[in-house]
Amino acid sequence: MATDGTLSIVIVGGGTLGMNLGVRMDEVGHTVNFAGRNPVSEKMLLSLAAVEGSVCHELPDAANDADMLVIAVPFDAVIPTLQAIGDIGDAVVVDATNPVLQGLGERYTSGLDVIAEVLPEATLVKAFDTIGAETAQHPVIEGKGIFLPIAGDADGAEMVRRVAEEMGFDARVIGGRRQAHFLEEFAWLCIHMAVKVKVGADFGFAVLKR
Ligand SMILES: NC(=O)c1ccc[n+]([C@@H]2O[C@H](COP(=O)([O-])OP(=O)(O)OC[C@H]3O[C@@H](n4cnc5c(N)ncnc54)[C@H](OP(=O)(O)O)[C@@H]3O)[C@@H](O)[C@H]2O)c1
Repeated sequence: MATDGTLSIVIVGGGTLGMNLGVRMDEVGHTVNFAGRNPVSEKMLLSLAAVEGSVCHELPDAANDADMLVIAVPFDAVIPTLQAIGDIGDAVVVDATNPVLQGLGERYTSGLDVIAEVLPEATLVKAFDTIGAETAQHPVIEGKGIFLPIAGDADGAEMVRRVAEEMGFDARVIGGRRQAHFLEEFAWLCIHMAVKVKVGADFGFAVLKR
C-alpha cells in the first residue's frame, strides 16, 4: 500500500466484470493493472484501453507488488489460474466468481474453500460476485449505494470494504469465510432477477433501515 493509502490492484481476467471493476477502482485513485492467459485477447485489449496506463501481466507475474488480486475468471478456471500465478506474496485474494454452472462438491461451503486448498496461507475474501458488471462502474442508484456484501478474512475484508465504499457501494462485511456461501446464494437471486424476472443487469439491492 502506498503512503497515501492507494493500492496496487491486479485484476486477473480482463472480461466484462474485470474491466468494469478496473475502470471504477482506477477512477477512485487506485493503481489498476490486469493479468490473464492472453494479453491480446479481444476482451483484455478492451480492458487495457478502458483503464489508461494499465498493463496486462503474464500470470506468473500477476502478484508482483500487488496489494490485492481480484479473481474475475470463470469459476472452473480459478484453480488452474491460481496455479499458474504461483506465489501470491502478501496480496489479498478477492474471489469475485460464482460457481453457477458447476456447483460445489459437498466438501465445500463456498468457492473460498476451494481456493483455500490451493492457497492455504492466503488472506481470502469473497466480494463483487453479487453485482452486475455494469453496476461496478455506476454503484449509486437514486442517490444510494448498491448493497455489496463482503465475507472473508478480517484484514482483507476491511481492505475490500474500504475500496468498495470509495467506489460508491454500500459495502458491508457480513462475516468470515464460513459466511461466504451467503454471497453465492445471493448472487443466484441477483442473476435470477436480472434474467428470469427480466429486471436487467443494471440494478442492485439496498439495505433500508429504520
Ligand atoms: N459479468 C458479470 O456481470 C459478473 C457478475 C458477478 C460475477 N461474475 C463472475 O466473474 C467471472 C468472470 O465473468 P465475466 O462475465 O467477466 O466473464 P467474461 O467476460 O467471459 O471474461 C472472462 C475472463 O476470464 C478469462 N478466461 C476465460 N476462460 C479462462 C480459462 N480457462 N483460463 C484462464 N482465463 C480464462 C477470459 O480470458 P480471455 O480474455 O483470454 O478470453 C476473460 O478475461 C465469473 O466467475 C462470473 O461468475 C460476473
